[in-house]
Amino acid sequence: MRQSLLTAARRARKTRKPSLLSRPAALAERIERAHTLDPLVCSLSDTVVRALPAGKGTDALHGVPFGQPAHPALVRFPLGCWTSAVLLDLFRGTERAAGMLIAAGVAGTAPAAATGLADWSALHRDQQRVGLVHAACQGGAAALFLGSLTARAGGRTGYGRALSASGLAVAAIGAYLGGHLALRLGAGTSHAEQVSHLSVLGWHDLCALTELADRRPVRRQLGYLSLLVYRQGGEVSVLSDRCSHLGGPLHQGRIVVERGAACVACPWHGSTFAIASGAVVHGPATARQPSFQTRLTADGRVELRPRP
Ligand code: FES
Repeated sequence: MRQSLLTAARRARKTRKPSLLSRPAALAERIERAHTLDPLVCSLSDTVVRALPAGKGTDALHGVPFGQPAHPALVRFPLGCWTSAVLLDLFRGTERAAGMLIAAGVAGTAPAAATGLADWSALHRDQQRVGLVHAACQGGAAALFLGSLTARAGGRTGYGRALSASGLAVAAIGAYLGGHLALRLGAGTSHAEQVSHLSVLGWHDLCALTELADRRPVRRQLGYLSLLVYRQGGEVSVLSDRCSHLGGPLHQGRIVVERGAACVACPWHGSTFAIASGAVVHGPATARQPSFQTRLTADGRVELRPRP
């Protein structure tokens, strides 16, 4: 009897579907595929792209001057302030300190939202769906903390504390989705190939110089590595072909001149890299594109090796 009960319990456990809440990754994956969000995603994304033309200001929002996206660093401020405020509420800290932390956190959402929107507007659609829900959670959390501040100012401290705790819970859901976006879907990480791990040390033969048309980017393969090769007269520049932003094919990009130097603009979201060095000239990419040193042999062949 006992045995049959155990077997039935085991069978029930196997057939029971885990709820989405018990598997947050499944919930995030479902958001990735939520096509119902697309009309909102499209119109908001178009608005942000129109509001942020390419230039220094937009590059700063992406984090180009810092060499990595600015958004992940900026979101820590409101989250830290709000967590501290809720801890003060829990452990009977002063009401004034809690209020100041909440206000600072709400103020900190402005730069976090601006940088987040800039990055979000240059993502793939599945990433944008998750990003939209992430932003909605953080916006909701900010509204709850603002409500908490108002309630506290009106003397309703208990209600204010409840709103703060709710705000932190919503912010935690948003933070989870932000983590999913960055760590699972790779938003903000470099998508360029790991050149140092994929190429053998030393110089490698690429091709004859005469095989390369002048001022026309072409794709070449070196072992596992896809390369963008660009010849200007007797000079040959080589970059990893996979854009560091989201892996776009740089050999299909436009050649432009920026600050007097030849650059390649990625066909997907317009990140612009100096062809000679791989330095980021315009975002949304923030990570330098891996580049190669080249030399010509006496018999006119191009050799290359990864730039240290
Ligand atoms: S993949 Fe986005 S700019 Fe290249």
